Amino acid sequence: MTVLVTGGAGYIGSHTVRALRRTGRDVVVLDTLERGNREALLDTPLVVGNIADADLVQSTCAQYGVDEVIHFAAYKSVGESMQRVGPYMHNNVDATVSLLDALSAAGIGRIVFSSSCSVYGTPEIVPVTEAAPIRPESVYAETKAIVERVLHWYGEVAGIHSVSLRYFNAAGASFDSVIGEDWDAAINLIPMVMKAVLGFRPPVQVFGTDYPTPDGTAIRDYVHVDDLADAHIRALDYLAGGGVSTALNVGTGIGSSVKEIIIATESITGRTVPADYVGRRAGDPVSTFADPRLVRATLDWTPQYGLYEVIETAWNWHLSHPYGYKPGPAK
Ligand SMILES: NC(=O)c1ccc[n+]([C@@H]2O[C@H](COP(=O)([O-])OP(=O)(O)OC[C@H]3O[C@@H](n4cnc5c(N)ncnc54)[C@H](O)[C@@H]3O)[C@@H](O)[C@H]2O)c1
Repeated sequence: MTVLVTGGAGYIGSHTVRALRRTGRDVVVLDTLERGNREALLDTPLVVGNIADADLVQSTCAQYGVDEVIHFAAYKSVGESMQRVGPYMHNNVDATVSLLDALSAAGIGRIVFSSSCSVYGTPEIVPVTEAAPIRPESVYAETKAIVERVLHWYGEVAGIHSVSLRYFNAAGASFDSVIGEDWDAAINLIPMVMKAVLGFRPPVQVFGTDYPTPDGTAIRDYVHVDDLADAHIRALDYLAGGGVSTALNVGTGIGSSVKEIIIATESITGRTVPADYVGRRAGDPVSTFADPRLVRATLDWTPQYGLYEVIETAWNWHLSHPYGYKPGPAK
């Protein structure tokens, strides 16, 4: 029994690969390495290639005896997607269709897909349940919503069962600081805060201080990457046990404000977070966090870690890998 992990050399994928291997499963990763790192895989078998390459997918499945798939491979930047519609649609949607055709031809019928809470756009009600309307507000989010629909039809027509995990904000790093979120790709709040603390970037810009939240800053749901990895393993088990296709929110159910992140970072690192408080940014939801009841009921998943572990592990990773997986400038 082998799990094919597409995009396994990326941030969430590499943590999930490690967690899968800890359970004793065999794993093979398919990744272009365009935005991933071989180093993040340690000694896990890696096939360097594109999910759109149907022959490669089929030969990989045959060679490694693949019977289930976790599909992370995608481009993930909301901002970039608003400038590069074609590459996002091709890489996230078309390539996934090719992958599903190849899996179907190989007789593989179970897949866990990386979706995103961004499919809800700006939620009207928080915490967000899976019943909230799907209203993507970016090309990136649209690609996730489309793939969820595509998976529905591959389920109906080709018998491929799927779980779409709608992640909230993935954050943190492995507890031993061996793997983490790579430096270049890290564009979310927590890595930006870490970079600012380490002096690698200008002060963090805090967009909006007058939101209707307790401290005036925006609220998000930060879920530790190892908890996310655990959700994927449970989703595989659920499908292997005959579970029906579904889409689940994966978040802690706890919203943390930008100011709370800054205060927690200062307390954990003992350093000041350089920050500029500026106006609101167009399109940013005030507050979004998950209602995790369905994922708990379906996968028996509850997060083991909170904001403290998210920030502590992120800090330890950034401190020990100031240039991510790259060696950094010669001394
Ligand atoms: N990071 C988050 O907070 C977050 C939140 C919601 C959803 N997601 C989704 O989770 C998935 C993983 O996110 P991540 O943060 O680990 O991203 P990442 O960019 O670190 O990893 C993605 C990996 O996929 C590979 N890849 C991209 N296109 C490929 C292709 N066509 N064929 C083979 N490999 C390809 C990249 O080289 C990279 O290693 C993505 O689908 C992303 O959209 C991430």
